[in-house]
Amino acid sequence: MDYLTLATPDDWHLHLRDGDALAAVLPDTARQFARAIVMPNLKPPVTTVQAASEYRARILAARPPGCAFEPLMTLYLTERTTPQTISQARESGFVHALKYYPAGATTNSEFGVADIWRCLPSLEAMAELGLPLLVHGEVTDPAVDVFDRERVFLEGTATRLLERLPALKVVLEHITTREAVAFVRRGPPTLAATITAHHLLLNRNALFQGGLRPHHYCLPVLKREAHRQALLEAIASGGSRFFLGTDSAPHARHTKETDCGCAGAYTAHTALELYAEAFDEVGALARLEGFASWHGADFYGLPRNSGRVALRRQAVEVPALLDYGADALVPLRAGGKVAWRLETTAPAAPGGC
Ligand code: DOR
Ligand code: ZN
Repeated sequence: MDYLTLATPDDWHLHLRDGDALAAVLPDTARQFARAIVMPNLKPPVTTVQAASEYRARILAARPPGCAFEPLMTLYLTERTTPQTISQARESGFVHALKYYPAGATTNSEFGVADIWRCLPSLEAMAELGLPLLVHGEVTDPAVDVFDRERVFLEGTATRLLERLPALKVVLEHITTREAVAFVRRGPPTLAATITAHHLLLNRNALFQGGLRPHHYCLPVLKREAHRQALLEAIASGGSRFFLGTDSAPHARHTKETDCGCAGAYTAHTALELYAEAFDEVGALARLEGFASWHGADFYGLPRNSGRVALRRQAVEVPALLDYGADALVPLRAGGKVAWRLETTAPAAPGGC
């Protein structure tokens, strides 16, 4: 298959940052996706509906002219989040989920949750109101090997959360292991997972290929090839509880290429093209539309997009550097090529740019 069309996709896990950085990266996502679930790990984090409303207004203002891209906002769960905030979030109509960062697990997670059971009243309110909990599923115990942190989280906290709150909708974000794939498969219909393009395309060798590769460093960290194969098998199976979430996470070049580099891979620039490579690798291009354009919307209870985009098999060069406000940004595959070209088809997709 050298040409395919699909309903305009959505990105169910995205970091847009703020200010000049937001202005720099937003067009990349808006070119490809009609909507995106926007992560709240700003400094300070987005913990109130008021802050989410203001952040949303800044995102809308940063859209290229004529672009109908819709940001789907999230709140950052803390131990001080109240059930009242949960009701306000539901009533707002623009807050679609809460994000649970175990404190210390990743970038800007220091205000996150040390003890999830202190959030129980809020989680109960979310279950009742149908607001999903988006989970960064890694334990933070420094004694646990960094490659095992997802599995240990699933065996402990995640298992207990699902038992205690069977009505709560949960999305395990950016899953990276065969254990996570199995956990989602045997879980209830209220449980789903996003998968990134970089975890589908790279294994942990990519961190050390010819030297230390900071642009391949993200959290959860890349895993062994056997785990990547399990993720590929999940997308190839067409399971409706697996969907697209890029976790595109821009960091200025000098904060990645340094003594203690930030975690995050920037993929928004060629996100759908990278996913097409992964689906092609397992002969499953026919499953891409479900993963990219249907399953997430269905899980969140939102309408599927009516526009369409097309992908043509054609090598496209990826720039070595992108603008990032006053800084530079190194995208995944910088200076290399992607195997697909994204074309928006006529009529112009509502939501597309
Ligand atoms: O690699 C990552 N980068 N993982 C995360 O969980 C956060 C993200 C970021 O915000 O940079
Ligand atoms: Zn993320």
